[in-house]
Amino acid sequence: MNFQNTPAFAKQLDAEDPLRSFRNEFLIPQHKGNDAIYFLGNSLGLQPRRTKTAINNVLKQWSTWGVEAFFKGHKPWLQFHQQLTSALSKIVGALPHEVVVMNQLTVNLHLMLASFYQPSGKRNKILCEAKAFPSDQYMLYSHVKQRGLKPDEVIVEVQPREGEVLVCEEDILAAIEKYKDELTLVFWGGVNYYTGQVFDMKTLSKAAQSVGAKVGFDLAHAAGNVPLQLHDWNVDFACWCSYKYLNSGPGGIGGAFVHERHHRNENLNRFAGWWGNKKETQFLMEKEFVPEASAEGWQVSTPSPILYASHKAALNVFEEAGFANLLLKNERLNEYLRFVLSEVSTGLPNDSFKIFTPGTKEERGCQISLSVKNGKKVFEYLSNNGVFADWREPDVIRIAPVGLYNSFEEVWQFGQCLKAAVLTFAA
Ligand SMILES: Cc1ncc(COP(=O)(O)O)c(C=O)c1O
Repeated sequence: MNFQNTPAFAKQLDAEDPLRSFRNEFLIPQHKGNDAIYFLGNSLGLQPRRTKTAINNVLKQWSTWGVEAFFKGHKPWLQFHQQLTSALSKIVGALPHEVVVMNQLTVNLHLMLASFYQPSGKRNKILCEAKAFPSDQYMLYSHVKQRGLKPDEVIVEVQPREGEVLVCEEDILAAIEKYKDELTLVFWGGVNYYTGQVFDMKTLSKAAQSVGAKVGFDLAHAAGNVPLQLHDWNVDFACWCSYKYLNSGPGGIGGAFVHERHHRNENLNRFAGWWGNKKETQFLMEKEFVPEASAEGWQVSTPSPILYASHKAALNVFEEAGFANLLLKNERLNEYLRFVLSEVSTGLPNDSFKIFTPGTKEERGCQISLSVKNGKKVFEYLSNNGVFADWREPDVIRIAPVGLYNSFEEVWQFGQCLKAAVLTFAA
C-alpha cells in the first residue's frame, strides 16, 4: 500500500479499520484533558472498561457466598480457569488442555524447569539468549545452582555478533549443533524484550529436539502480539505473563503451555501442590498426589478468582475482535509506523535515530526499538507531550502500538512529536 505521512491519510486508515470501535472498550490515560498516546502495550496493556464489572462480580460472589463461591452460582470459582483456556489456546496455538492459567511468569518458569530441565551426566547444558530479560537469567542461574551444578559451566549464552544488537539465528543453530551431545534444554524468548526481535520458534524447536534437547519459550512479549503455534511446533513448554499484550492488569495471572505428550509422563519431576491434583480427588485430602493429566497438573496453589476475572474480561475483548483480525491490524500499524518514521527521518540530521528491531514481517511484532541521539531528553520531551513510551539505557526508546486500542492517527502524531523532540535537542 502507498502510505502518506499526513493526518488526513492516517484518519482514512482509521475510518477503514474494522477494529476501530475496540478502542472504546479501553480506558485511555489522559494528558492535559486529551487521550494520551499510549504506546506501551509491550509493558502494561491498558485496562478494558469491562474489567471493573468482572472484578466486582467476583467480590459480589465472595460477599454473597463466602467460601461457597468456589462451588456455587453459574460461574463457580473452582471451574473458573476453564473459561479462560479456550480463548488463550487460540492465541498461543495450543489445544485447550495444553494451557493453564496460574501464578506469575518467573514462578512458572521455575516450575517448568523443575520438569523439563533434566541434567544427566555430561548432558546438562542449557542454551539461552545473552541479554535475556534479567528475571529469566536469575531464574536459570538460581535453578541450576540449586541442582548442585555450576551455572557458568552449564548455561551457554548465544551473543549477538561483534558490533550487532540482534542475535543471528544461524548462530543459535550452530550453537545447538556444537553442543549437541551436552544440551538438555534450549530456552529462548519468543520476542526479545529489548530489541523486539521475533525468533523462529518452529525452527528452533526442531533443531533443539533433533539433538535430544527439550525446548521452552518465554512468551512475555509474544503472547497476544505475534502468531504462535505451540502445539504444531511441538514446543515442550512455554510461559507468559498476561499483563502486557493480553491486558489482564498489573501483576495479572500468568499462563503456561505444556505439550500434551508430557501430560501423562510419570517420570517427569514436578513441584506439586493440591491445586494440580486430579479434580475428582482434590478434596478427598489424600496423601498421594495424583496430577491432573493436562497442563492443569502443574498448578500448585489456590488461584485468585479476582485475577481470573480480570484476565477473562480482557480475553473476551480478544474473542470479539478475533485474534486473526487483530494480528492483521497490528501488522498494518507497525508498517505505517515504520513508514512514518522513515518520512520523519528524511527531514532530520542523519544520526537522529535508528530503528534496530528487524524489518521483515516474520521477525517483528508490535514493538519498535529506536536508538536515539540525546535519547533521554527526547524521551522526556515525548513524556511531557503525552506520549507513553519506554526508556532503556543507554539510548533506547521502545514503543509498541497495538491494534486493540491504538489508531493510525496516533502513529502519525507520534511521528510529529518525535520530530519536534529531535529538532529541539539537535542544535
Ligand atoms: C521477557 C520477560 N521475562 C520475564 C519477566 C518477568 O515477569 P514476572 O514479573 O511476571 O515474573 C518479564 C517482565 O516484564 C519479561 O518481560
